[in-house]
Amino acid sequence: MFYTKEIRAIKRADRFRKRELYDENILDFASNDYLGLSQNKIILEKAYQRISKYKYHSPKASTLVNGYHIIHKEFEEYIANINNFEKAISVGSGFLANLSLFEALPRRGDLLLFDSEFHASGLITGKMNEAQTDIFLHNNIVNLIEKIEKYKKNNQGRIIIAIEGIYSMSGDIANKDIFKIADKYNAILIVDEAHSVGVIGEKLLGVFEYFKIIPKPNHIKMGTLGKALGSYGAYILSSNEIYQYLCNRAKAIIYTTAPSIFDISLAYEGFLFIQENLAFLQKKIKNRKRIIKEKLNIEINSLILPLPVKSSKEILKLKKIIFENGFLVGAIRPPTVKKPILRIIPRINENGFEKLIKIIRKEIKNNV
Ligand SMILES: Cc1ncc(COP(=O)(O)O)c(C=O)c1O
Repeated sequence: MFYTKEIRAIKRADRFRKRELYDENILDFASNDYLGLSQNKIILEKAYQRISKYKYHSPKASTLVNGYHIIHKEFEEYIANINNFEKAISVGSGFLANLSLFEALPRRGDLLLFDSEFHASGLITGKMNEAQTDIFLHNNIVNLIEKIEKYKKNNQGRIIIAIEGIYSMSGDIANKDIFKIADKYNAILIVDEAHSVGVIGEKLLGVFEYFKIIPKPNHIKMGTLGKALGSYGAYILSSNEIYQYLCNRAKAIIYTTAPSIFDISLAYEGFLFIQENLAFLQKKIKNRKRIIKEKLNIEINSLILPLPVKSSKEILKLKKIIFENGFLVGAIRPPTVKKPILRIIPRINENGFEKLIKIIRKEIKNNV
């Protein structure tokens, strides 16, 4: 009645989305549970043990009132330490973390520059702050410098650059030179590591570690807990100064109930598990990449395999065929991406990956 026209238009463009319940036993190559931790019952049990010894098992209030729990504090100290940042703040989700950062940090007169492939949770905040917001071409330092130089001609505000460690749809890794540009212009660099933590780096900590970059006061790292960590939530790592500012200005941190203590406990155990099983996990990740290189001749830096398909209609057909063979893969359509892609996540603990590749080779040839 109120949105009939809009819904009809979405359907006509083959962009209609539905929430679905899938059979638990479907072979899952669609979710971001890269390491399979969401099924790990030892981690679940440990998380429960960690939390059950306390009187309270839910946060009850904002962290700025009395929702801050010893489990938040211990997790934050752990995650800041292991990543060599001064401070950490646990946040309810990656979406909230990005909202916190991009609503609070850019102030009137500042310049906020997003990589064009930055996640929607950042891009939608363009209108929530009073800074000048712009987008630079994906991973393109020439375009980034042009935008900074143009701004600097008439302005002296802060410059904030936002990139992802590994881009959620293309699986591209960040351009390392952007770290140098940020230093050169004394810009704040925000790195969203939703898809790089648990996937790259010797300790699987993400791009800072992978690029061997020692965090400096202009660096902010955002990591999520709902992907490789098999939990839910996020964390922001920064200098003490930025930490203090966020605790006092970021509305999505102040005016919200503290992150779920259980989820933080689960993620904490997830991190400990990863650190204790690095060699095993690295071997499995390497093996997935090898299969993709051998069978599809594609080299991936991440654990995201994007395969272009010519239209939204075709991609839905393909997804259905693959589904009928017992596999779930992502069929990502505009406006999430410019052109439709099959987004395959070679989750390291899932069975049937080679069979899926065989089906894909056959079907893609017929459909691309
Ligand atoms: C790059 C990126 N940033 C942020 C988010 C949001 O994180 P969360 O799902 O924890 O809200 C996502 C997840 O969809 C993401 O892919």
